[in-house]
Amino acid sequence: NRNSLITSLLLSWYEKEGRDLPWRETTDPYKIWISEIILQQTRVVQGRDYYFRFIERFPTVESLAAAKEDEVLKLWQGLGYYTRARNVHAAAKQVKSIFNGVFPSTYSNIISLRGVGEYTAAAVASIAFNEPYAVVDGNVFRVIARLFGISLSIHSSEGKKVIREIAQSLLDTQDPGRYNQAVMDFGALICTPAQPKCIACVLQDYCTAFAGNRVGELPVNDRK
Ligand code: ADE
Repeated sequence: NRNSLITSLLLSWYEKEGRDLPWRETTDPYKIWISEIILQQTRVVQGRDYYFRFIERFPTVESLAAAKEDEVLKLWQGLGYYTRARNVHAAAKQVKSIFNGVFPSTYSNIISLRGVGEYTAAAVASIAFNEPYAVVDGNVFRVIARLFGISLSIHSSEGKKVIREIAQSLLDTQDPGRYNQAVMDFGALICTPAQPKCIACVLQDYCTAFAGNRVGELPVNDRK
């Protein structure tokens, strides 16, 4: 069917064109979590350097839990959104006190950590533990809204619900982490907010927005 075709086309695109990112060379949930927190409000190009520095100084969740908050904040300098730094520090302490120093391995335990929402929990659970949770962020919303011609606002609860359901139905349950990262790269490299590369898009034939010449109108952001 259409959905499974879309999934396999995305995966084969990712195989060839996906980015080589440092956190893709590990299955350590701690490192994957740190990378996802850094990337929440930071571009991949900038996030990379911070990721390397952070992991070099705090290679394990124990080392982060033992750190002084000042030092964590200092490493975060320049990234902004310092609540993220305070939260990762607090969460590392939670891992120590609640999970005996072992990073939790299920979505429901991961989402119980400070500063971890649905997106981060889905990313870490899928990438590090193969749990079948589709990530939904701005990139995923855009890709799916265009592919399926969804005109619901990115701010509406109905829109979020519809996109979440489609995202979950596209998920490759064999390798959910790879699928999630394929959509992220696809949204960052091909199905971009402005001037998307529809000419080079392997999903062109399956894209409702492209067929209806509505790529520029989707997704709908009614707060702009
Ligand atoms: N943005 C957030 N997480 C990402 C990841 N794992 N790969 C690429 N882009 C991302």
